[in-house]
Amino acid sequence: MSETQPERVRVGRTDDLPDGSQREVMVAGRPVVVISYEGQYYALRNNCTHKDFPLLGGEVSNGRITCEKHGAKFELSTGKAKTLPAVKAVQIYRTEVEEGEVFVLPL
Ligand code: FES
Repeated sequence: MSETQPERVRVGRTDDLPDGSQREVMVAGRPVVVISYEGQYYALRNNCTHKDFPLLGGEVSNGRITCEKHGAKFELSTGKAKTLPAVKAVQIYRTEVEEGEVFVLPL
């Protein structure tokens, strides 16, 4: 039996994703927010685990993104909820950079 390759989704050129930028892509039918932060690309499910609000556009600082709805903070590198009212981690995805292009794929 052949294994299905995980779907790899192109996010864009690194030039178009400067530090501090965020972009939403769909990965395997699910919304994912890709965040450029301090020279790294992070990808998290674009749904807050508190009330399902999109994380896209939330403030990023100290390696965390803040949900704009009620202020929960999620760690970019692990997806862990660091402040209430969220308690559950948000799913994270893998990012890859290849020849100046950013990709995201399921972990
Ligand atoms: S929906 Fe994100 S903190 Fe409530």
